[in-house]
Amino acid sequence: MKATVEDFFKRHPQMRYTYFGGKGGVGKTVVAAAVALWMAQQGKRTLLASTNPVHSLSNLFKQDVFGKPVLIPGTENLYVQEIDTKDTIERSKSEIREKISWFLKFADIPTKADDFIESATMNPAFEESAMFENMINIMFEDAFEFYVFDTAPTANARRLLGMSKVYTLWVDKMYKSREEAAAMRLSLSFRKKKVAEEEDPLLEYLTTFRDRIEHMRVLLTDEEKSAFFFVTLLESLPIAVIRRFIGWFKDFGIPIGGVIINEAIDKSEVGKDSAQFIINRIKMQDKYREEAYQSFDNVCGEIPLFENEVRGVGMVEKVAQALFPPSG
Ligand SMILES: Nc1ncnc2c1ncn2[C@@H]1O[C@H](COP(=O)(O)OP(=O)(O)OP(=O)(O)O)[C@@H](O)[C@H]1O
Ligand SMILES: [Mg+2]
Repeated sequence: MKATVEDFFKRHPQMRYTYFGGKGGVGKTVVAAAVALWMAQQGKRTLLASTNPVHSLSNLFKQDVFGKPVLIPGTENLYVQEIDTKDTIERSKSEIREKISWFLKFADIPTKADDFIESATMNPAFEESAMFENMINIMFEDAFEFYVFDTAPTANARRLLGMSKVYTLWVDKMYKSREEAAAMRLSLSFRKKKVAEEEDPLLEYLTTFRDRIEHMRVLLTDEEKSAFFFVTLLESLPIAVIRRFIGWFKDFGIPIGGVIINEAIDKSEVGKDSAQFIINRIKMQDKYREEAYQSFDNVCGEIPLFENEVRGVGMVEKVAQALFPPSG
């Protein structure tokens, strides 16, 4: 290991936004919680948030953290929240309904908006985008010093960065042609009064959206403030999954914090008379450990497989101790 997670944070004192990605079930929630707990213990007012519709954080902390940030008892600075996606989805739906209705009226199309709304909102990507929107809102609210998102918005981050440039160009171009049209209308007008500044809700929306995307792009690509971490098991598929993610992220200039290995079997617990399947597992893990270190130049932590599932602050603390071993 070249540098630990702690080294990484020491080298990036301005760090504020962290995301945890990886294949399903590899321990993203658990690792994110451990990082959040450690950060809170360093004195930072920390929010651990999940956009996952499954109640993984309530389950992990054995208390209801749905819908609003809850201070975890026994900690001073650790707030945990499961983002209520249902609300956002409903809100986005009604916003879209409003916009589509407005557009249909504007374009004089005598169709009911409902058909369009249905097709615009009935797909999984819509739900995912709504969650991403929610995450952005929480970041822009700026109520915490440090943010940990237990799922990395890999597809969304990529999409956002891919479209932000095109979007800015497009909105700026629309602006220009609107301005030209308005100027022409003014010069043709009999009344030499300014009628140009009509309300244009669509343009206003586009502008707001453009600025939001741009703001988010700046945050996502700021390597002093944002970092994506990837969690993997010592197995073939989880390693392949993050290899692909890391490739994408490098292409888009999204800063990567490092790779964390989870559920590594502690060899000191295993002897000659251990069960054959455990001995086999250890051999397998050794092989994939080598592969992981060869594939990724930034493995920054290794967490042992515990004898129990990780539940409750006490267990999260144990994970944090493995990830941030006391030095000296
Ligand atoms: N080091 C560990 N030792 C023992 N159990 C672990 C360890 N890490 C994770 N677990 C357990 O593995 C399961 C999956 O972990 P977790 O929920 O964090 O994964 P995830 O990647 O967030 O999953 P999902 O993709 O569903 O969100 C949980 O039951 C958790 O308690
Ligand atoms: Mg999870």
